[in-house]
Amino acid sequence: MGKAKAEQKKDGGRRVATTGDIEVSTYLEIAKEIDGAAAAAEVAPELKRESIVVVDFGSQYSLLITRRIRECQVYAELVAHDAPWEKIAALNPKGFILSGGPASTNDPDAPLAQSYIYESGLPVLGICYGMQAMAKQLGGQVAPGTKREYGHAFLHLSEVDSPLFANIDNPTQVWMSHGDRIEAMPQGFRSLAYTENSPIAVMGRGDNVFGLQFHPEVVHTPQGKMMLRNFAYRVCGCRGNWTMGNFVAESMDRIRQQVGDGKVINALSGGVDSAVVASLIHHAVGDQLTCIFVNNGLLRREEVERTFNVFRLNLGMQINHVDATDRFLDRLAGVTDPETKRKAIGEEFIRVFEEEAKKLGKVDFLAQGTLYPDVIESASSGSNAAAKIKTHHNVGGLPAKMVLKLIEPLRYLFKDEVRALGIELGLPEEMVWRQPFPGPGLAIRIIGEVTREKLEILRSADFIVMNEIKRAKLYRKLWQSFAVLTDVRSVGVMGDHRTYGYLVGIRAVTSEDAMTADWARMPYDVLARISNRIVNEVPEVNRVVYDITSKPPSTIEWE
Ligand code: XMP
Repeated sequence: MGKAKAEQKKDGGRRVATTGDIEVSTYLEIAKEIDGAAAAAEVAPELKRESIVVVDFGSQYSLLITRRIRECQVYAELVAHDAPWEKIAALNPKGFILSGGPASTNDPDAPLAQSYIYESGLPVLGICYGMQAMAKQLGGQVAPGTKREYGHAFLHLSEVDSPLFANIDNPTQVWMSHGDRIEAMPQGFRSLAYTENSPIAVMGRGDNVFGLQFHPEVVHTPQGKMMLRNFAYRVCGCRGNWTMGNFVAESMDRIRQQVGDGKVINALSGGVDSAVVASLIHHAVGDQLTCIFVNNGLLRREEVERTFNVFRLNLGMQINHVDATDRFLDRLAGVTDPETKRKAIGEEFIRVFEEEAKKLGKVDFLAQGTLYPDVIESASSGSNAAAKIKTHHNVGGLPAKMVLKLIEPLRYLFKDEVRALGIELGLPEEMVWRQPFPGPGLAIRIIGEVTREKLEILRSADFIVMNEIKRAKLYRKLWQSFAVLTDVRSVGVMGDHRTYGYLVGIRAVTSEDAMTADWARMPYDVLARISNRIVNEVPEVNRVVYDITSKPPSTIEWE
């Protein structure tokens, strides 16, 4: 996956792995930047909260460690390996985890842990490279492995009473991926477990410093999460106060403090992130929030009604709904190039949003659904989401006169936490579990020019796909599933008549993060039902194909 991700970045990866939510919010950010408006006034996390600090040595799994700890109801944050103590102290750390990484401790410029970690007296857990760095820094020896150990291994526990091993089977399966190995442990350390190829697969000193040669954070280590949980609770003494209930209470206080009696606007996209942001802020400051929902005419069937019903009718929120279908479709007339479509849609969105915002008089804050992975990604790549989308979608020269401060209450949350938060706030499951939908909507699922007629054909086909997939209880298992209207027409026969109709493609993929994806092995009978229904119920279509390419080399969307 690392390679694919790197390649995608290298070639400029025509797409951005985001939902419509971030796309929408990023357009706004771009608009704001153009005006040189005020910097973000970010909402800091609650400092009294206990946390585990994950020190990043560059492993592709660093963020996953952070997420696993949070799944155990303990707050965790990923920090750079050379972060200053002041930043760490502000997190109220109860322990450290040193992540894996691509370097070798024998490299002259190998990254090492800051000395405050060992001097703090707090528990430390080194994982893979993190264990080796710890061994080296505390006086042990790390030797370059003659052969790389990669894949499944059985871990035999020699000290079953270690707090790290509570509720762990002996032996237990683990996932190895390392070259170097510990040759000599630092003074005071003992080997606590071994595998066939690693005599020191786990080492420990006393009851609070440990090293694991394997990766407990990946699913291939089935009891790895339990080990991380043991570290957080039994070694670090965490109590587990990272719950969405606590989060709601804390962030409502913060939002109230920040907003005072100011006015907030939010661009509702119908996606999960913007929906949760809107709901959270509405809980905090009620009608000081106005949501603007732009119907760009490129949404799925019943999308507008659904969003509107949830927010205005069920949650009683103020929504300014703008039907800008004509404007968007006029802009798209004659446009066939995918990136030109994206650019046109982005520009038009800003115009409409700006006009609507102006009608509200003075507005102070813009709410955005930025998530933790976006923040981390931006920090590590030295860019920001706006810059990324700007390059990918080339949204330049946008007219905007918005001077707004940002509120980003989700910027410390993972997607699964956002979903849990949505449920906590009482949003319907259907909205919270919605599959990602791209900002440019159906425009990039119609190959060639977007017309009203084609949009209607695609909506009908797409509705059937969604319907059947939900009926087969596959909706949540799939990252995305949808129909694509190609510009291919082919010959068919219906009754006694020859037909000449459109070709519809079905795309259904599984994925973790949209950077890579695999085509879903859908049951034949579900595919058969989808195909039958489409050709029977959508008269303009006479042929349906299933897309069996993965990403890479394909992308998820067809345009
Ligand atoms: P691709 O097609 O690049 O898509 O594999 C990866 C993810 O990004 C979504 N996507 C977009 N989202 N604006 C968006 O907001 C876009 O222009 C865009 N293009 C693709 C896509 O749906 C998938 O989740």
